[in-house]
Amino acid sequence: MNAEHLSVETRSVHAGRADLTALGVHVPPIDLSSTYPLPGIEDGGAAYDQMAGGGIPGDGQTPVYQRLWSPGVARFEEALADLEGGEAGIGFGSGMAALSAVLLACVAAGTPHVVAVRPLYGGSDHILATGLLATRVTWTTVAGIGDALEPDTGLVLVETPANPTLDLADLRAVTAAAGQVPVMVDNTFATPVLQRPLEHGATLVLHSVTKFLAGHGDVLAGAVVTSSEWAQRIRPIRAITGAVLHPLSAYLAHRGLQTLVVRVRAQQDTAQIVARWLAEHAAVQHVHYPGLDGADPAGLVGTQMSGPGAVLAFDVGSYGKAASVAEGTRLITHAVSLGGVDTLIQHPAALTHRPVADGFKPGQGVLRLSVGLESPQDLITDLDRALSQL
Ligand SMILES: Cc1ncc(COP(=O)(O)O)c(C=O)c1O
Repeated sequence: MNAEHLSVETRSVHAGRADLTALGVHVPPIDLSSTYPLPGIEDGGAAYDQMAGGGIPGDGQTPVYQRLWSPGVARFEEALADLEGGEAGIGFGSGMAALSAVLLACVAAGTPHVVAVRPLYGGSDHILATGLLATRVTWTTVAGIGDALEPDTGLVLVETPANPTLDLADLRAVTAAAGQVPVMVDNTFATPVLQRPLEHGATLVLHSVTKFLAGHGDVLAGAVVTSSEWAQRIRPIRAITGAVLHPLSAYLAHRGLQTLVVRVRAQQDTAQIVARWLAEHAAVQHVHYPGLDGADPAGLVGTQMSGPGAVLAFDVGSYGKAASVAEGTRLITHAVSLGGVDTLIQHPAALTHRPVADGFKPGQGVLRLSVGLESPQDLITDLDRALSQL
C-alpha cells in the first residue's frame, strides 16, 4: 500500500494492517504477552540494548518484555503516525502519560523550560504549574511566545482548539515565533481528520487517545506523533517509567481509527446545528464554537483546520444555572471526557479544569458539550428541557 496516494478515509481503515493478509487474518491479532521467550542471552541482551536506546525490535528479534515493546501497540502507533503524517507514533497509557514523557525528555536534555499558551486541559495546566516533573513554565499568548523563550526552553506547548473554550491558535504564527524550539500541539479536539499540526511546522503532536481516536468511552490511552529522532528519545522514557499502553486498549484504539473520519464529520455536523440553536437561546449568554459566524476572525477554519469540530462550550451566566443544566439533562450524560459516540456535558471550572489557578479558570457559567452521534433534534430537545428550568 503506497499510503502517500491514499485519502485519509482509506488510510484510517487500512493503516497499520498491511501485513494481515500475509498473516492469514482479517483483524490484528491481540498479543497480551507480558514477556517473550528469549532465543539466547546474547540475542536477548542485544534486543534489550536496542530498545533501551529508543529503537524497535528488528525482524524476528524478540521484544523481550511488554514494557519495552508490544506488536499490537506498534500497529496502532504506525496507523496514527500515518494519519498525522509523522515518522513515528508512541502510544501511552493515557494522554497525561504521553505529555509527561515529553516533559521528561526536555528535562533529560537540559532544556526544562516550557513556554505554554493557556488555556490547556486542566491536567496539562496542573502538571506544568506545579513543576512536578522539574520543568519550569512561562505562560503566555501566541503573540508573546517569542519574548517568553529562554536559553533553556525545550518546548512550546499549545492546544488548538483549546479545552474548554475552543480558542484557536495560528500554528504558522506559533512555529515562526518558536524558531528552533520544538512546538508540541495537543490535537485531541481536532484529530488528524480536521488538522495535522506537523504540516504547519509543529515537531510533536499530542493526543488523549481516550477521546475521539478511540471514540467509544472504553479506552484510556495517549500518544505522541513526531520525528524518528524524537521518538528515539521518548521511547526509553516510556519504558523506564512504565507509562505503557495496554495491548487490548491499543487494539480498541486502532479499531477506533477505522471509523474516526465518519464519526468526526457526523459529530461535527450535529455540533454545528446545536451550536447555532444554543446561540439563539435566551438563556445562553455566549457560545464558544469556532464554526459560528464571527468566532474565527483569523480564518483558521478552512485553512489550518478543515472544520470546527464536535466540541463546544456555552455560558449560562452563573455556577448555579450551569449546575442546573448539567444535572438537568436526561439523554446527555453528565460526565467528564469527550469525543465519544454519545454526548457528554460537564462544568470545566469545577471538574476538568479544577486544578487551574484562579483567574485562569474557565467562567463559572461555562459548560462544555461534547457532541456525539445522536440526532441533533433529540439533543436540542434535551438541552431545551434543561435550559427551560432556569
Ligand atoms: C485536550 C486534552 N489533552 C490531554 C488530556 C489528558 O488525557 P488523558 O485523560 O487521556 O490522560 C485531556 C483529557 O481530558 C484533554 O482533554
